[in-house]
Amino acid sequence: MEGRVFTEEQEALVVKSWAAMKKNAGEHSVKFFKKILEIAPAARPMFSFLKDSNVPLEENPKLKPHAMAVFVMTCDSAAQLRKAGKVTVRESNLKKLGASHFKAGVAPEHFEVTKMALLETVKEAVPEMWSEAMKNAWEEAHDQLADAIISEMKPSS
Ligand code: HEM
Repeated sequence: MEGRVFTEEQEALVVKSWAAMKKNAGEHSVKFFKKILEIAPAARPMFSFLKDSNVPLEENPKLKPHAMAVFVMTCDSAAQLRKAGKVTVRESNLKKLGASHFKAGVAPEHFEVTKMALLETVKEAVPEMWSEAMKNAWEEAHDQLADAIISEMKPSS
């Protein structure tokens, strides 16, 4: 996906909305995760930390880190996209992410689910800022990061 344009304005939209969401990041992360399970209940068994857990979702200590990782990495990706024109997560990290998601049974189409959940979460978190341009900016940053992870989704060697 090199050469796809990500403008300074798009980066600013992602950074601005994330800055506004950050103070309630924990709460948004729980909502984000619940949306994923609403859209795709079948994804539940993939998350090892849900399988052997009886505590309510809100109290699951491992849920927030994944949601935060998706948000933070999407924002970092947005910043890099503008500077470098492509996702530049360190190669070893990208390989590791690809391998761990492959191992967890994640398929490329699951990223569509997380993308929808991500966009809805941002929309509900910052309704006063939300716009078509902001949606497109998050979508582009997400898609480029997701494509980079998907291209490394194979068994670790
Ligand atoms: C684990 C990031 C999308 C399911 C992780 C970890 C990170 C991460 C940093 C922990 C470290 C690791 O295991 O390598 C991301 C990012 C995503 C994304 C940045 C999208 C841009 C998805 C999607 C699914 C998914 C689409 C499937 C619905 C999982 C699972 C684990 C995991 C099942 C292992 C959790 C566990 O059982 O402990 N992800 N992820 N992720 N991710 Fe993602």
